[in-house]
Amino acid sequence: MTSTWVEPSATATALLLLGRGSDPATERGVECPGDLPAPSDPELVARATAAKAQLGDRVFVLGHHYQRDEVIQFADVTGDSFKLAREAAARPNAEYIVFCGVHFMAESADILTTDQQQVVLPDLAAGCSMADMAALPQVEEAWESLADLDLTEGTVPVTYMNSSADIKGFVGRHGGVVCTSSNARRALEWAYQQGQRVLFLPDQHLGRNTAVLELGFSLDDCVLYDPHKPNGGLTAEQLRDARMILWRGHCSVHGRFTLDSVNDVRERVPGVNVLVHPECRHEVVRAADFVGSTEYIIKTIEAAPAGSAWAVGTELNLVRRLALANPDKQVMFLDRAVCYCSTMNRIDLPHLVWALEELAAGRVVNQITVDAKTAHQARTALDQMLALPGTENRPPSGAR
Ligand code: 13P
Ligand code: SF4
Repeated sequence: MTSTWVEPSATATALLLLGRGSDPATERGVECPGDLPAPSDPELVARATAAKAQLGDRVFVLGHHYQRDEVIQFADVTGDSFKLAREAAARPNAEYIVFCGVHFMAESADILTTDQQQVVLPDLAAGCSMADMAALPQVEEAWESLADLDLTEGTVPVTYMNSSADIKGFVGRHGGVVCTSSNARRALEWAYQQGQRVLFLPDQHLGRNTAVLELGFSLDDCVLYDPHKPNGGLTAEQLRDARMILWRGHCSVHGRFTLDSVNDVRERVPGVNVLVHPECRHEVVRAADFVGSTEYIIKTIEAAPAGSAWAVGTELNLVRRLALANPDKQVMFLDRAVCYCSTMNRIDLPHLVWALEELAAGRVVNQITVDAKTAHQARTALDQMLALPGTENRPPSGAR
């Protein structure tokens, strides 16, 4: 069976609107000087190509899988957040790392690269709503609440890569580890060798899905810590008994998939394989056939038999690219409604061209720097992650 990609309703317009114009009052870093043509203008493609060629080996462009096609075509390497962190660390000779992704990824790249290298995020407004859900003062307050109950001793903080550098620094300072969706299981296994309880930041879904579906904990072993309530809205007993204290954060993109989305697609497409990212809600991941990081999702679709049908629960740019690259399979978006990451989509061709041309002219724009103390502490937690035994992104067997 072959298929053609069908846009979920309203998507085309929404994607087109992204990247047009700017709102300097609310968007840091979008004031690109000069008259920038609209995205995908062939002239811009030529300008990006020329600027990149002029920079040669001095620049290395990293592209996350959720980036737009017009940007991803200029990436020297594409990957999930784990692969991109490793790639950034492995390029000591590139003077500039241009990060086509979001702010926390560029911060991690700055931490993992040498002092001589400069990391550039083409649009500073490319943040992450999930990362913003855990602020350092809130996390420190939570840690103090645990200390008041004498619970910090056996508690290991683990933070998802999708968190600010100062949260990673906090975790490094307190003997914890960073994880990504590629290695959450291994990071948690390591953490439970250090203590009996984990404080998992900031994505409750990745934490819960990994603890329950991969480590065999019960839902009752997990409690949800609400930073807006005293003691997270939990009793001393609940905190003491918990194996997993989940920070109340989530991804607004993956959080949109529901059990109804899964049931609906199974009804519409008999025999469909449901493949989702672990940032999805627990009931969605439970109802899915396969779950894994963006890199896993790509490998799974690539390895799937011709004629198989796939409903994919992750960011729209990636799903659309997969559908177009695998015409012998039926690849569709899990939900009927639009689901793209608006901050990832902030990085568009005009911003990339601007960043590359400025670099070529000897001006470093939108540089992401993490202060030395935070970087040192965060590096401890990142190095701990990089030292975890091999991360597997092998495709599963059993696809229909
Ligand atoms: P991975 O690329 O690590 O799967 O993460 C997905 C994501 O949401 C990145 O922001
Ligand atoms: Fe953040 Fe979700 Fe966007 Fe990833 S997809 S950058 S977690 S908002």
